[in-house]
Amino acid sequence: MARILTGVQSTGVPHLGNVLGAIAPAVKLSSDPANDAFLFIADLHALTSVKDAALIRENTYSVAAAWLAFGFDIEKNTFYRQSDVPEVTELAWYLSCFTPYPMLANAHSFKDKSDRLSDVNAGLFFYPDLMAADILLYDANFVPVGKDQQQHLEMTRDIAGSINHQHPETLVVPEVLVDKNVMTVPGTDGEKMSKSYGNVLGIFLPEKQLRKQVMGIITDSKGLAESKAPEKDTVFNIYRLVASEEKTEEMRQNYLNGGYGYGHAKVELFETLLNMYEEPRKVYAELMENKNLLDEKLGVGADKARKVASGTLKRVRAALGY
Ligand code: ADP
Ligand code: TRP
Repeated sequence: MARILTGVQSTGVPHLGNVLGAIAPAVKLSSDPANDAFLFIADLHALTSVKDAALIRENTYSVAAAWLAFGFDIEKNTFYRQSDVPEVTELAWYLSCFTPYPMLANAHSFKDKSDRLSDVNAGLFFYPDLMAADILLYDANFVPVGKDQQQHLEMTRDIAGSINHQHPETLVVPEVLVDKNVMTVPGTDGEKMSKSYGNVLGIFLPEKQLRKQVMGIITDSKGLAESKAPEKDTVFNIYRLVASEEKTEEMRQNYLNGGYGYGHAKVELFETLLNMYEEPRKVYAELMENKNLLDEKLGVGADKARKVASGTLKRVRAALGY
């Protein structure tokens, strides 16, 4: 069996980009009987940006509910909170001692913020080592991530490689899986959809709020009658990621023909989102009303994860001389 592992940071309620770029592909992979999947909520990584304890807790539940709502099977697989397995922080320390300083200084997660160094905490700088520990602690073979995480995965492989160079066969070097069919999901302003840009489509939001976000997608000012360039428009570019090929083609023709306004396209997108995500939205809302059940499910995963973690850590300690 191949071990597939991935994590999602608990920095907010998952949005359409997280769902299409991470959750849905990971759930699909995890349902393959040939795969043993580990999915976890990166709530320790979240502390680099979220300091409010209640918010950390709430976001963790949100992320857990979202994955379960998309059908992640916790009987077959392992589903847990990163912070429930404190072994990961010990491994992260060992890894950091094999991580060249310039490698961390080059990580996008740090570099993007390095023009305001006073706002950067050491945790953010150390982030790739904790992420490498997330992966290496569980002997993962494959790590499915979005394109933006590829660099972190290459660092993980490098770090594991240098430990193995010094201490042969200590760690399993993982492969990165970037789903080529999933492009970066654009946000309401046309830039990459991200919590930190405030441009998300919150597909778990109440209908009214989701509608408002869809209606707020920025378009150019072409009038209803004019012909429009579909590929240059954000509404179309989001729609094509969720609609069938047939429906996408239909909208493309409508754009080209004219007599079809951006308002029409937004309503079509909104209705498609509601239809498509009706069941996950319902399950998500139910789970968020039952946090005890979420805790129970996460607890089962934590026990399974810790068993694997303690085995790996024993191996690493012995190899390093502890
Ligand atoms: P955010 O940018 O909103 O903070 P995260 O960094 O928490 O999102 O990303 C969680 C997962 O979702 C990652 O695997 C990431 O690659 C994926 N992801 C996030 N935003 C997008 C997007 N706009 N398109 C595709 N995948 C995305
Ligand atoms: N850094 C990842 C993100 O922001 C989340 C993450 C943490 C992760 N640890 C991981 C993803 C390990 C894959 C494997 O999306």
